[in-house]
Amino acid sequence: MKTTKAGIIGCGNISGIYLKNGQETFEILEITACADLIPERAQAQADQYGVDRACSVEELLADREIEIVINLTTPQAHFPVAMQAIEAGKSVHNEKPLTLTRDEGQQLLEAAEQQGVRVGCAPDTFLGGGHQTCRKLIDDGWIGEPVAATAFMLCHGHESWHPSPVFYYEVGGGPMFDMGPYYLTALINLMGPIRRVSGEARITFPERTITSQPLSGRTIAVETPTHIASTLAFESGAIGTLITSFDVWSHQLPRIEIYGTEGSLAVPDPNGFGGPVFVRRSGDAEWHPVPLTHEYAENSRGIGVADMAYALRSGRPHRANGTLAYHVLDVMQATLDAPQRGQHIDLESSCERPLPLPMGLRPGLLDP
Ligand SMILES: NC(=O)c1ccc[n+]([C@@H]2O[C@H](COP(=O)([O-])OP(=O)(O)OC[C@H]3O[C@@H](n4cnc5c(N)ncnc54)[C@H](O)[C@@H]3O)[C@@H](O)[C@H]2O)c1
Repeated sequence: MKTTKAGIIGCGNISGIYLKNGQETFEILEITACADLIPERAQAQADQYGVDRACSVEELLADREIEIVINLTTPQAHFPVAMQAIEAGKSVHNEKPLTLTRDEGQQLLEAAEQQGVRVGCAPDTFLGGGHQTCRKLIDDGWIGEPVAATAFMLCHGHESWHPSPVFYYEVGGGPMFDMGPYYLTALINLMGPIRRVSGEARITFPERTITSQPLSGRTIAVETPTHIASTLAFESGAIGTLITSFDVWSHQLPRIEIYGTEGSLAVPDPNGFGGPVFVRRSGDAEWHPVPLTHEYAENSRGIGVADMAYALRSGRPHRANGTLAYHVLDVMQATLDAPQRGQHIDLESSCERPLPLPMGLRPGLLDP
């Protein structure tokens, strides 16, 4: 089968796994060009992963053979780079978050619709074996009707290890915009869309001191909430509790649990592709591990891009799509708006649950 040619813009930390999986794992993809504001980065990745050429962003966008642009730039560049790709007539898959604001997200989706191209977005971890197994357990009724979910992402921030941690504390950063996409996308895949958000948020430490190199000793003025406790009312009627925090030294909370009318489900880390998955049904004396029902339990970043490539061929919807990512963005913004305004926020956006992946896929394929 002819491959779908893709180009990567943004050749930083996360690009390696996309390049590796693009070139080695997914049969349908071929990454033929890569670009970065820093040309040496693009050249180094092209050399390491056998990409045809490193080039400028303009050259990559002018390449008629490239159908999909994989946008792995830093968050503030997600919108302008994706718009450029759409204007060049290409489908685009952004790293998370989709954009920094609702307005940008809407503009992006509208522009793509007008151009007749697709928008995709990370995370695609919900397509991994762990989360697809959870999806199947829920869809097959193992825990009955989901009535509630808890999700917790708590740590003490990143200034002790990250080489340039300032962006984590700027508007558009914080634990919600950094990690919320994993947790919310996972919850929406399992439970469906969210209709209303409420909660509280605070900045516990208005100033942070960097202890990592090379900026050790420099202080950061914190601009965005670093502890956010949110209540999520799902369209189904289920109630979610989500806490994201950079203010907590340690905890013993699970990452995600779903509680149903017939039992409970322990969901694995949404920032990974594998398990473990546990179920404890009404009457069970203990939790039971569940073998994974689906492929792609290893680091399969880029699976959402491969899924988009198959979808472009057949005309079916792609799973890690812009409508889902926009809903996630809307929820994230609402978790900050609700405490600021002292109100529930009724969401204007919604989305379909992405279709589950089929079982028994041959490695490297997304469609049977
Ligand atoms: N690093 C991780 O572990 C990780 C994990 C998951 C998701 N992400 C997401 O991936 C994205 C990139 O993260 P990263 O850690 O690779 O960042 P990074 O800073 O290491 O790399 C980003 C690259 O994009 C380039 N860039 C920025 N603006 C550009 C533009 N306008 N045109 C061309 N190139 C541009 C930069 O020069 C840089 O090389 C972010 O959205 C982040 O949230 C990162």
